[in-house]
Formats: sequence, C-alpha cells, structure tokens
Amino acid sequence: MSAVTYEHIKTCAQSGARLGIVHTPHGSFETPAFMPVGTLGTVKTMSPEDLESMGAGIILGNTYHLWLRPGTDIISEAGGLHKFMNWKHPILTDSGGFQVFSLSNLRDIQEEGVHFRNHLSGEKLFLSPEKAMEIQNILGSDIMMAFDECPPYPATYEYMKASVERTSRWAERCLTAHSRPAEQGLFGIVQGGEFEDLRIQSAKDLTSLDFPGYAIGGLSVGEPKDVMNRVLEWTTPLLPADKPRYLMGVGSPDSLIDGAVRGIDMFDCVLPTRIARNGTCMTSAGRLVVRNAAYKSDFRPIDENCDCYTCRNYSRAYIRHLVKCDETFGFRLTTYHNLYFLLKLMRQVREAIREDRLLDFRESFFEAYGFNQP
Ligand code: GUN
Ligand code: ZN
Repeated sequence: MSAVTYEHIKTCAQSGARLGIVHTPHGSFETPAFMPVGTLGTVKTMSPEDLESMGAGIILGNTYHLWLRPGTDIISEAGGLHKFMNWKHPILTDSGGFQVFSLSNLRDIQEEGVHFRNHLSGEKLFLSPEKAMEIQNILGSDIMMAFDECPPYPATYEYMKASVERTSRWAERCLTAHSRPAEQGLFGIVQGGEFEDLRIQSAKDLTSLDFPGYAIGGLSVGEPKDVMNRVLEWTTPLLPADKPRYLMGVGSPDSLIDGAVRGIDMFDCVLPTRIARNGTCMTSAGRLVVRNAAYKSDFRPIDENCDCYTCRNYSRAYIRHLVKCDETFGFRLTTYHNLYFLLKLMRQVREAIREDRLLDFRESFFEAYGFNQP
C-alpha cells in the first residue's frame, strides 16, 4: 500500500473537474486543494494555529532552503519537519530542482546532478536525484517531489527534448533512492514546455514508473495563459485517474479555477503570501492595493464579502497605516486574508463540482473579479 492514495468522489458533469480526497500518513485533505507555501518551515507571518483556523489541509516546504538553513542534522534531531515546526497535518516538499534554477545563476547541469553556488554564501554545492531524496527522507514530508529540471520559457525544442529525457532518467533514480516508500509518497513531475509531443513523452515515461501521484511542472514561468491551458489539456488525460495531479507554482484565482476545470487536484504558489507582504489583497472584486491613498480613511473591511479574521475585525484604513509603517501585524492581517480567500475559493470550487456547476461558478467569479476572458 502506497503512503499516499487518491479517493475519487466525483467528476463534474460540466467539465473534467474532479472532487476527491488525498490520504497521507498525517491525515487527509479534500481536492481540488490550494497549498500555502512555507519555504523555510513557516508560512511567513502565520502560526500553525492560524493555518488550521483558515482551513489549510496541507502546506509546502522547500528541500533547497531547509538543506541550507538550518540543515538536515537539526531537523533530524528534532524528529522531522512536522515536529520541528509543530505542524501536525500533511506536508509536501519540493525537490530543490526548481529552486536551484530560479535562485542560483551559477549552475552547471550534468547527467549526475547540478553543481551550483549557495545563493546566500557563494559556497559550492551539488544536488542530485539521490541527494534530493536523502534530504526529503530526513525532512519526513508526506509527499516528496522528484528532482527535475524546470527549463526557462521559452526554450528551444532541442533543449527541451534533452531536458525531458534527463528528467525521466532522474525520476527513475529518485524512485530507486527513496528509502521510505511506506511512509512518504514520491510524485513524478511531467515537463516538456509548450511542446505537445514532449509533454506526451514525459507523461508516458513517468507513468510507466508508477508513482503514487504526478505533478505538471514547467508552467507559470512566463508563458501566456492559453499555453498553460493547452498544456493541461494535452497532459491530464494521460495521467492515471486514480492518482492525484498537482499543478506546480500556480496560485492566481483564475488559474486555480481553470486548472480545476482541466482536472487538476493540487496547487501551490507564493503569490498570495508574497503580494500580501507588499500590501496587495485578493478580493471578490479583484486586487486591492491597500497601500493606496484612496484607503486612507476607508473604514470598510478589505473585502465586504469576506468573513475572515482580518475582515471581521480590521479596516482598510488601519491595515494601510500598519503596512505603510512596516508593522508586522499589517502583514499578518493581509497574509491571513489572502490565504483565506484562496482556501475559500477552493471550497467553493469543490462545492460547485459536487453540484455539477463549476463552469457557471467560473463565469460568475470571473465577472466579479474583472477577468473578461470567455
Ligand atoms: N515549482 C514550480 N514549477 C516547478 C517545476 O517545474 N519543478 C519543480 N520541482 N518545482 C516547481
Ligand atoms: Zn478577509
């Protein structure tokens, strides 16, 4: 029995959207799900109790960052990442593949792995499929990710083909190196950029290895929205219906809905937490930049349709004041609201799938949010 399993409840009659439950050693969560990002063992400014109170079922951690600081010895001594950070529910860790490519500009990709420099100290480091599995086995995440290459957009067909083939060989090495398959589920990552035949090849290579779940990577890297939707339409039908599907790095409200419509079960993104620390909020009427002078004496909540802790207790004027003075409480309030907004959006998406009306929900949400796409 795999450590991670997918229970399918139903498919929406209006689209390919799936309602389900993912079961892990630290409990279950309903899908489609949004996963808040806790890169360094904390979702910035939120306590585990905050995350529980807003209904987060699973959070993310990053292999690359936790390996550099505080290092695996400390986390091992603590008894794993769950105990170290006091989070009792599921954790997914990204493999470090993406972070090496996005954070380090000095890197050398070889068949064996990637040589690069620590983005903090400049020290020379090496990450490989085996090393990424060793670190994630020590972190003890419920869901581990295979070590992949996420090429930039755009990349040439020739580059992408060689990269996809190497990512498939690395995926096989990850499976071999994974030492705790009964306690931790390892997901493969489909790459292939904007090329249909490479997405198909990657999906075939990975599904033949029989992972307990599959991610779609290499998206949300600057490509137009219709490219992402097309890639999802090629790829999700090739993934097994009885395993979870995870779209990596996607977190704008429109893309969450459009991913769910195409059969995606899990999403993660730094967007809600990152823009919150910049004073930007997601609301049912679109983005609200609470720093703006327009809100100086606006005593309404951030979102009049929101029932979160922030919106029940604090005004735009007060939050604007805190954010402009760099007061940490201001960032806590905007972060809480943005995460609550996306988690509530996913609850609404699940309810709409249950009632076979996800496309109707999409239309009314897009209209109110100010997206004018069909
Ligand atoms: N996060 C966002 N995109 C990716 C990807 O393609 N690979 C990995 N490992 N993480 C990601
Ligand atoms: Zn709110």
